[in-house]
Amino acid sequence: MIFPENFVWGAATASYQIEGAVKEDGRGQSIWDTFSHTPGKVADGDTGDVACDHYHRYQDDVGLMRELRLAAYRFSVAWPRIQPDGSGPANPAGLAFYDRLVDELLEAGIAPYVTLYHWDLPQALEERGGWVDRDTAYRFADYAALVHERLGDRVRDWATLNEPWVAAFLGYGNGVHAPGRKNPAHAMRSAHHLLLGHGLAASRLRELGAQSIMLVVNSAPVLTPAQVNDPQAVASEADAAAVDRIHALLTRQFLDPALYGRYPEEVLAAAARNGGTGHIQDGDLKIINAPIDLVGINYYNPCVVQAGPGRPADAAWPGSEDVEFAAADAPTTAMGWPIVPDGLSRLLVRLSQDYPQVGLMVTENGAAFDDVVEDGRVHDADRVSFLQGHLREVGRAIEQGADLRGYLVWSLLDNFEWAEGYRRRFGIVHVDYATQTRVLKDSALWYRDVIAANHL
Ligand code: FCB
Repeated sequence: MIFPENFVWGAATASYQIEGAVKEDGRGQSIWDTFSHTPGKVADGDTGDVACDHYHRYQDDVGLMRELRLAAYRFSVAWPRIQPDGSGPANPAGLAFYDRLVDELLEAGIAPYVTLYHWDLPQALEERGGWVDRDTAYRFADYAALVHERLGDRVRDWATLNEPWVAAFLGYGNGVHAPGRKNPAHAMRSAHHLLLGHGLAASRLRELGAQSIMLVVNSAPVLTPAQVNDPQAVASEADAAAVDRIHALLTRQFLDPALYGRYPEEVLAAAARNGGTGHIQDGDLKIINAPIDLVGINYYNPCVVQAGPGRPADAAWPGSEDVEFAAADAPTTAMGWPIVPDGLSRLLVRLSQDYPQVGLMVTENGAAFDDVVEDGRVHDADRVSFLQGHLREVGRAIEQGADLRGYLVWSLLDNFEWAEGYRRRFGIVHVDYATQTRVLKDSALWYRDVIAANHL
């Protein structure tokens, strides 16, 4: 399987998951600092206080990327480093860190892909309502402009939000993520305000000269249990309706407004039943529909559902009444997530048909396994086979016409896996948190060879 000539190979991380240095150089507090320091919220009481200490070790980490011959590195900027309280002038020391990182990357021949929001909202904004409050969207656009002002001369590729579904529905719906609120109406409002922030920021970035703007979503094919292993399996009418509704809530809720300037009926109905639609103001959808160049897809596993008459909505899925979330008949990763590689090609082909106006990029894909270091090596054969299986499907999707520009593995380093803390390792590079020693896992060495050959 040969990949297109300009296919972009890379890896991704996020600020709170790797940086540490949470009190340094004027960084303000984020909702993840507050949440992780609240007993019972994160496994083993883990926090991002030190994480991979990337803030101090970024040069060595870029050295690893160079060794792996990455063409692109997707990282996120911590908003509270730039605006400690979420508004007002930029903190120069915070910008300076990303400035140094970008220079280091460019010197190594690696293109920086900057994500502006990977969930670390300034705590001060949460205290004013967080994403439930419309004003946060405007604050986000101001912050985006400050970052662009400093890095825009060297950064070509910008992502506004990472996974607004997760930020809204795990943050404000089931409360598994920061800020840990559990209110379906708040979750619906947050989703809209995140989109509004995306649209406002996209326009600002464009005005400032950004060349490539993307929105990153967690998407997945929504399948019935039978369709997991048999793509041709025909769903009953009731099951097909459940599938369509969940697809609307997961993917179309974000991509239809961003790319067509409208909400799916199913989403408006869900909002109507959960707090109403009054927060969607005239003109918002036009703002959200700001032109973008790429959609980033984070894919880990399919979403499996069937009709479940009489079931209440899941807390993370307002609007999912009468739907049963089902298990997939497939092997799982250490997260318990089913491994269904061809879910990725099914997804990419569908999205490129539904949204032909944008290019696609896999901005995250990877797996957690219980890795062990033996004699200085990590033989993570299960991760190699996971990546190999998914890359094969990336190739198939391209063959089937998907306009796919690149693939970024999640993650470069083992890191703070949100509510799961450090016990889940997603890296292709192993991190010993006690010593901060990095070891290239077998998967990293394998990935390096795939990149060098540009084929599988
Ligand atoms: C995604 C997140 C990323 C990482 C992976 C495993 O939802 O964007 O930060 O935690 O899951």
